[in-house]
Amino acid sequence: MRVIICENYEEMSKQAAKLVISQVTLKPESILGLATGSTPIGMYDKLIEANKAGEVDFSKVTTFNLDEYYPLSADNDQSYHYFMNEHLFSKTNIPFERTHVPDGEAANPEKECEEYDKKIEAAGGIDLQILGIGQNGHIGFNEPDKNLIAGTHLTELTDSTIEANSRFFEKKEDVPTKALTMGIASILKSKKIIIMANGAAKHEVVSALMTPDITTDIPATMLKIHSDVVVICDKEAFYGKQN
Ligand code: GLP
Repeated sequence: MRVIICENYEEMSKQAAKLVISQVTLKPESILGLATGSTPIGMYDKLIEANKAGEVDFSKVTTFNLDEYYPLSADNDQSYHYFMNEHLFSKTNIPFERTHVPDGEAANPEKECEEYDKKIEAAGGIDLQILGIGQNGHIGFNEPDKNLIAGTHLTELTDSTIEANSRFFEKKEDVPTKALTMGIASILKSKKIIIMANGAAKHEVVSALMTPDITTDIPATMLKIHSDVVVICDKEAFYGKQN
């Protein structure tokens, strides 16, 4: 695991965007794995700027998002479909028909999950996966548990995640209690992984990434198995609260 410690959120966003731009420049038909949450928004802004400035062309990329709440319709403004359209897809030349987000309204979620993994495989696998990290160490919506699940699946959210994500909803009761998420193996099959974290609230979980331990209680520690992971974080996430 390589670690890039940035001065602040702006710097972290720039560094991550640089790596995505390099990836797409080297391989214009890259398969990108994308994340939601507040963490990657700054990076998406940089990608939009670079795309507008003609510094990167996304016209040949394909994207697969990590997760979606279940049940939730794509046009709900809290859905990850909506988030991605708002923060990236509608503002770049990524072909909309080559973007994929699990269907939060699928009548048969098991089938949807199985097909999602098949689509990733058929596309040739993810070249570069972007990840944020939950305060409890979740990646995608792979929550701490005795057993983690390999493929894309329907999962129950933990109370701490519902609490953490309630800031985006009007009230906690509005947060869906389930989600469709790529599994740990779906994520680990990516050729390269960038995991981003900022702010003191992520310090504990970023510290867990720096130890030799792997535990299903902190799903992000599974990334230590992978040979090409870059952690891009700010000083507060790495060192804790700065005075
Ligand atoms: C959600 C997403 C994760 C994301 C996490 C962190 O739970 N499913 O993919 O990493 O939030 O969110 P934030 O970046 O807002 O801290």
